[in-house]
Amino acid sequence: MQKFMIVGGNRLKGIIRTSGSKNATLPLLAACILNAGKSVIHEAPRLKDVAVMQDLLMYLGAKVNCDRNTIEVDTSSIQSVEISEDLMRRMRASNLVLGALLGRFGRVRTSYPGGCQIGSRPMNLHLKGLKELGAKIQEKFGYITAEAERLRGADIHLDLPSVGATENILMAAVLAEGVTTIRNAAKEPEIVDLQNFLNKMGARIVGAGTDTIKIEGVTQGDLKPAVHTVIPDRIEAGTHLVAAAITEGDVTVTNVIPEHLEPLLAKLREANVSFTVGEDQIKVQGNGKIKAVDIKTMSYPGFPTDMQPQMMALLSLADGTSIITETIFENRFKHVGEMRRMGADIKVEGQSAIVKGVEKLSGAYIEASDLRAGAALVLAALAAEDGTVIENVAHIDRGYERLELKYNALGARIIRVHN
Ligand code: UD1
Repeated sequence: MQKFMIVGGNRLKGIIRTSGSKNATLPLLAACILNAGKSVIHEAPRLKDVAVMQDLLMYLGAKVNCDRNTIEVDTSSIQSVEISEDLMRRMRASNLVLGALLGRFGRVRTSYPGGCQIGSRPMNLHLKGLKELGAKIQEKFGYITAEAERLRGADIHLDLPSVGATENILMAAVLAEGVTTIRNAAKEPEIVDLQNFLNKMGARIVGAGTDTIKIEGVTQGDLKPAVHTVIPDRIEAGTHLVAAAITEGDVTVTNVIPEHLEPLLAKLREANVSFTVGEDQIKVQGNGKIKAVDIKTMSYPGFPTDMQPQMMALLSLADGTSIITETIFENRFKHVGEMRRMGADIKVEGQSAIVKGVEKLSGAYIEASDLRAGAALVLAALAAEDGTVIENVAHIDRGYERLELKYNALGARIIRVHN
């Protein structure tokens, strides 16, 4: 168990580079299974979740080589199609290999992923989609088995635009016979990145980024090695923008695709944060006069649930009262109790948090309950008047590459303490 000791009050200043996207890298690694050969992914972030996905591929029999931010994956030697309970427990996104394994081998067996800190996160839409592609699904004793000699293209309508279900069905459909259409698909930029990678591999996919994706099935022989550079992480970049705003700093965040950040930028504008947008960078000049704004999380291009806790940290210091409504995950206000310890005035009523801005936050002894809650607490601590201790920073490491080093280079004072 490691913790951060943070002395707040410093304005962040300088340039900070965003790493490659975690949520794009995970499905890209899973997609490597499909071509039964070598793939190269550049700009992969060095994160715990990415390491777990690499372990999973090796467990299945793939050869994985990682040199700094480049990962080479050779899946020609994969033997197993079973994922152990341990790997499913270590990371929920392990379920992203289901579609690709089923598509290539006609069989996959995995333990059912449990609930997680932010919500129950069922798999019904993933399984419904695979069933419609012709898979026989058995759910017994906490294990899911999916089988099909060869999947058949189908017209699939998702009840809601789940990111993971869209990705899994998309990957499964690449090697299916005939055309698959996914309607009410998730439109996140990470899905566009997955489409681009798969098309480089020889898949025939159009429509990612819209709510209708069409996949024309190909055969294994049509697929070839692919080399790809992961898109920048829009959530990491967003976290840095809020870090600059909350510390009244002067920070340029580089390696960003501004369009991917528009849902957040719209709210920062409304909240009176000053920033200028360049081609691949955004410069924030915090002026300390944050205005209250209301936020409702939605799937892309709505406001991202993964930025909700960080924005709550910022709005806890705003002038006025903000209402933040969480519509994606039922249990995503765990940071509220910890922020209250720091002096924030926040009340949760059902799906909404009522955030009354206070003059200042003060340091406290707090705990990160999950990845983005942890990030939000770091931001609150950077703005707080005195010292804060955040326990359980392993959660933060799942999504940010040595966050303390990046922020210390901008003038923050964060020490990682090994218990
Ligand atoms: C992905 C992201 C996560 C982000 C989330 C929402 C990755 C690795 N993770 O997670 O960071 O917070 O999108 O933007 O990319 N649902 C069902 N049935 C299903 C699947 C999902 O009801 O079969 C529900 C979930 O409970 C949730 C909603 O759909 O309420 C959205 O979940 P989903 O988009 O699937 O999120 P993930 O892909 O797990």
